[in-house]
Amino acid sequence: MSDPTADLRFPADFVWGVSTSAFQIEGAAQADGKGESVWDRFCQQPGAIADASNGLVACEHYQRWAEDLDLIASLGVNAYRFSVSWPRVQPTGQGEWNRAGLAFYDRLVDGMLARGLQPHLTLNHWDLPQALQEQGGWANRATVDRFVDYALAIERRLGDRLASLVTHNEPWVMAELGHHQGIFAPGVKDRATAMQVSHHLLLSHGRALKALRAHGAKAKLGIVLNLAPMHPATPSPADRAKAQLEDGLLARWYLDPLCRGRYPADVWASLGDAVPQMAEGDLAEIQQPLDFLGVNYYSRTVQSADGSWSNQQSGRELTDMGWEIYPEGLTELLLRLQRDYPQLPSLWITENGGAFPDELKDGRVADEARTRYLQQHIAAVHEAMQEGVRVGAYMVWSLLDNFEWAFGYSKRFGIVHVDYATQQRTPKDSARWYQQFLQQQKKKA
Ligand code: FCB
Repeated sequence: MSDPTADLRFPADFVWGVSTSAFQIEGAAQADGKGESVWDRFCQQPGAIADASNGLVACEHYQRWAEDLDLIASLGVNAYRFSVSWPRVQPTGQGEWNRAGLAFYDRLVDGMLARGLQPHLTLNHWDLPQALQEQGGWANRATVDRFVDYALAIERRLGDRLASLVTHNEPWVMAELGHHQGIFAPGVKDRATAMQVSHHLLLSHGRALKALRAHGAKAKLGIVLNLAPMHPATPSPADRAKAQLEDGLLARWYLDPLCRGRYPADVWASLGDAVPQMAEGDLAEIQQPLDFLGVNYYSRTVQSADGSWSNQQSGRELTDMGWEIYPEGLTELLLRLQRDYPQLPSLWITENGGAFPDELKDGRVADEARTRYLQQHIAAVHEAMQEGVRVGAYMVWSLLDNFEWAFGYSKRFGIVHVDYATQQRTPKDSARWYQQFLQQQKKKA
């Protein structure tokens, strides 16, 4: 198949990157004074992780960061999205700061600048200090102010060198998968707790943004949401109502307070006793101006009222996660965001990519399916821009094969292969393609 990006031209100032997160790549989980995170603890729960693995070693990025930054720079991207491990810089989530941990991120950020890479930092990519979890974690309103302290400390230390700063990565995942379904850390299964957690995450985002701005932060400030078009399986009223509600829970529950200062009434009504407790003024605090919205996109979601839909029915190619490959959903999503939330600033694709059953043969990974996935989704972004959507960035998930949460190391999302026995990195064909694509964009600029 021909490359759908071949004739496309993106603006010269478009941000191209790769994304990772601390817990998934760093390893060194007990090194240099790092505290325990909820994911360190969760991995010890029998049956929690498909391959019974953990984040103790991961990709050894804590030791190999310089080599990894060289690799990123060699791709020709101009940006790197990474996250800070809160318990690495503040082991118990309050009080004492860990000098060695802060020094690591200092070196990392300087290393990016030295290689011409813009640092895009995420504060919370799920690895809350376990000590805070013992006090209720995100279900405890006091965690909101712990997070604001953490945000300010990171800004003080690194803020002068950051291109952007994200408060939370995918609050829906932390709330729903972590506190309702219980399949992610901290493994709680209670709907009311999950909704309370979502409110505290939003509140802590708003409060942190307010504090960071008051502090004179120069980096662009935003939040990252996981979003997907929600399609009804059939046009029946029941399936449509289900899709509407699920869209409410995934998207509007976060976007409405961020952009409009209120929770969506239909979702609120559907929650019954599980609605979160709020204090006077919370919604006003949540609705802070954003400099960008980060969008993580992987697939669409199809809803049927009786729960009978399976991705197999789509007739589309599925990734190794069983996710339907649906690039036009990204165009649809971007158009919808700009239409329904015109107050949103620039949209940044902060994650997009796929897991595929890669094979390393003679030093090469011929991952055509991933290359096609990236091409089709980059073309879908371009299509949305042609139709007038302001998109400022695209970042591939992920730089490296890494710890894919409850799936452990069994799913490979990297454009660079990692041999976990030797820690050897091998750029896959998709990385070579991305590199060529970026070279061409530079020439066209
Ligand atoms: C997203 C996460 C990221 C990664 C991808 C596959 O939900 O933000 O850490 O696991 O999915």
